Amino acid sequence: MLYISTIAGLLVIGVLPLCSLAASNVTVTTKNATGFPPCDALIQAGLGNRLLFATDPDYEPRIASWWALNTRLHPWCLFQPQNTAEVSTSMNALLGAGDGAGDWHIAVRAGGHNTGRTNNVDNGVTIDLGNMNRTTYDSQSNLASIGPGSKWKDVYAELHKHGVLVPGGRDGGVGVGGFLLGGGLTYYVGREAFACDSVKNFEIVLTNGTVVNANKDENSDLWMALKGGGSNFGIVTRYDMEALPDKELAYGIRIMSADYSSDLVDAIVHFTDNYQGFDSDALVAYLSHNTSIIASDVIMAAIHVNTEGVQNTTGFTKLNQIPSLVPDETLSVSLAQAAEGSQLPSGSWNAGATLTFKNDKRILNRAVQLHGQYVQDLKNALGADNFVTYVFFQPLPTFLGEISNQKGGNMLGIDLQEHNAIMWTGGVAVKTDQQALAFAQTRLNAMLAELRSFSASLSGGNRLIYLNYADSSQDPLGSYVKKNVDHIKAVAAKYDPKGAFQKRFPGGFKISRVDD
Ligand SMILES: Cc1cc2nc3c(=O)[nH]c(=O)nc-3n(C[C@H](O)[C@H](O)[C@H](O)COP(=O)(O)OP(=O)(O)OC[C@H]3O[C@@H](n4cnc5c(N)ncnc54)[C@H](O)[C@@H]3O)c2cc1C
Ligand SMILES: *[C@@H]1O[C@H](CO)[C@@H](O)[C@H](O)[C@H]1NC(C)=O
Ligand SMILES: *[C@@H]1O[C@H](CO)[C@@H](O)[C@H](O)[C@H]1NC(C)=O
Ligand SMILES: *[C@@H]1O[C@H](CO)[C@@H](O)[C@H](O)[C@H]1NC(C)=O
Ligand SMILES: *[C@@H]1O[C@H](CO)[C@@H](O)[C@H](O)[C@H]1NC(C)=O
Ligand SMILES: *[C@@H]1O[C@H](CO)[C@@H](O)[C@H](O)[C@H]1NC(C)=O
Ligand SMILES: *[C@@H]1O[C@H](CO)[C@@H](O)[C@H](O)[C@H]1NC(C)=O
Repeated sequence: MLYISTIAGLLVIGVLPLCSLAASNVTVTTKNATGFPPCDALIQAGLGNRLLFATDPDYEPRIASWWALNTRLHPWCLFQPQNTAEVSTSMNALLGAGDGAGDWHIAVRAGGHNTGRTNNVDNGVTIDLGNMNRTTYDSQSNLASIGPGSKWKDVYAELHKHGVLVPGGRDGGVGVGGFLLGGGLTYYVGREAFACDSVKNFEIVLTNGTVVNANKDENSDLWMALKGGGSNFGIVTRYDMEALPDKELAYGIRIMSADYSSDLVDAIVHFTDNYQGFDSDALVAYLSHNTSIIASDVIMAAIHVNTEGVQNTTGFTKLNQIPSLVPDETLSVSLAQAAEGSQLPSGSWNAGATLTFKNDKRILNRAVQLHGQYVQDLKNALGADNFVTYVFFQPLPTFLGEISNQKGGNMLGIDLQEHNAIMWTGGVAVKTDQQALAFAQTRLNAMLAELRSFSASLSGGNRLIYLNYADSSQDPLGSYVKKNVDHIKAVAAKYDPKGAFQKRFPGGFKISRVDD
C-alpha cells in the first residue's frame, strides 16, 4: 500500500508487529489445583482449557499484546473464552470462588488499548475477550454483529467483503469492546454522531450469568445506559451495529509548521462552527513532539477526511491555506486501508487525559502554548528523544447531540451543552521507564488543570470528560448531566443488584463512586 509508506515515513503512523496467539485450541485440557481460587473455580466449571498461566508458553506473548507497557500486568491466569456461553459459565464460577474473600479482582480486556490500567490486573484473573473476534454481516437487517475482542481494522476488512462498514475506531489496532462503551469518535461523527449511537443491540452477560439483549424494544434502559456508561453492567459479548455503504474515503494528512498555529486554530474553530454545512467531512488536528519526524520541537498535523470520497469539499478551505511542509495529497482509500495504515505503536509507557471546552480561539491558542511549555519541560527532564507527545483537537458541535437523540440517545448529553465545543486530548508516550512516565504524567495533569482554569476564566468550560480518553484521576461518568448519572445508577442496580461489577470488576470508571 503505497499511500501508507508515503505517509508513514513522515508521520506518526507506523504498523506495529502484532502478537497473535494461536487460536482456540489450547492443548492443556486438564489442570489440577493451581492454588488460585478463581482459576481453580474456572477449572471446576470445565473451562480449564481456556486458561493460560504464567507457566504456559503462550502467556507472556499474550501479555505483550496489551498496548501500553503500564497495562502489561500479570494476572494469576488469563481466561480466554470462545463464546458467550463460556463467559456466562465463568461468571458464577468467578463470583463464587473463595466465597468472594481474598484480595483479588477480575479484569476484562477487549482490544487492550486503554492506558488507564482498566483492562488487566496483577492479583486476580483477567477475562481476555480476544478470541471473541468474529464479525458477520446480515444484509436483511443491515446489521454487523461484532465480537468485543475484535480490532477495528479486522472488522472493516471483513465488512469490506460485503460492501459495508460501520463507524468505528480510526486507529486500526483499537478494540471494539471498550471503545463502544465509552462512546466512540469516528470519521463519521458529523452524520452518525458517536459510534455507540449505531449500536442497535448489545448482547450482555449479567453478573448472575444470565445473557440478555439490550435494544430499543428489549431492556431499553440498559441499551441506553450502555451507550457511554462504560463498564458498569456486565460483559458485553456482541455488538450489533447498523452498517453504512463502504464508500472510499477522501483521506489526507496536512503537516504544518508550528509557526502557523494560530492559522490552524482559526481553521479548527471555523470548521467546528460550520460543521453542519459539510457534515461528511472529518477533521482531527493535532500537535506532536516526535524527534523521529522532525528535530524541531513541535509539528502540527490535520487528518482531513471526506466520508463520501469527495476530494474538493469546502470543509477544509481554511486548512488548505496553511502551507504544508510536504505535499498534502488527498487519496482515495477504504476505511479498512485507512485503519490498517493508522496504528500508533505499542510498547511505550503511556498516559492520557482529556478536557472539553468552548470552541473559542483564545482557549485553543492557550492550549497550543501550554503544549509548547510541556514539551520544553519534558525535554529538559527526560531528553528530547525519549518521549512523544500528542495534543488532539476534535470538533464537538452541539448538533451532534441532536443526531444522537434521533438515533435513540446516549449518556453523553452533547445536545445539552451551551456552545459548540472542542474536545482536547493530551497524551504522552515515554520510552524509558515508569519513573519518566510519572514525571510526564504529573506535568500532563498540571497542563490540563491550567487549561481548565483558563477555559473557566473565559466562561468557556464544558462539563464533558470523554470516558475513552480520560485519565484515572478524572470523573467522566460524573461529568454527564444528572439525569444520565441517575439513569446509569438505576440500571446498574437493576441488572447487577449485588454490585459485583462495582466491587469485583474494579477496572474503569465505576458509577458507585460518582456522588449523587
Ligand atoms: C492509539 C489509540 C487510538 C485511539 N483512537 C480512538 C478514536 O479514534 N476514537 C475514540 O473514541 N477513542 C480512541 N481511543 C480510545 C479508546 O476508545 C479507548 O482506549 C478504549 O477503551 C479502547 O477500547 P479497547 O476495546 O481496546 O479497550 P480495553 O482496554 O480492552 O478496555 C477498556 C475498558 O473497557 C472495559 N471493557 C472492554 N470490553 C468490555 C466488554 N465487552 N464488556 C464490559 N467491559 C468491557 C475494560 O474492562 C476496560 O475497563 C484510542 C486509544 C488509543 C490508545
Ligand atoms: C514518531 O514518529 C515516527 C516516524 O514517523 C513513527 O514511526 C513513530 O511511531 C512515532 N512515535 C509515536 C509514539 O507516535
Ligand atoms: C481472531 O483471533 C484469533 C486468535 O486470537 C486469530 O487467529 C484470528 O485471526 C482472529 N480473527 C479475526 C477475524 O481477526
Ligand atoms: C483441538 O485439537 C485436537 C488435536 O489436534 C483436534 O482433534 C480437535 O478437533 C481440536 N478442536 C478444536 C475445537 O479445534
Ligand atoms: C492431576 O490429578 C489427576 C486426578 O486427581 C491425577 O491422576 C494426575 O496424576 C494429576 N496430575 C498431576 C500432573 O499432578
Ligand atoms: C468539486 O469538483 C466537482 C467535479 O469536478 C465540481 O462539480 C464541483 O463544483 C467542485 N466543488 C467545489 C466546491 O469546488
Ligand atoms: C439475573 O439477573 C437479572 C437482572 O437482575 C434477572 O432479571 C434474572 O432473572 C436473573 N437470573 C437468574 C437466573 O437469577
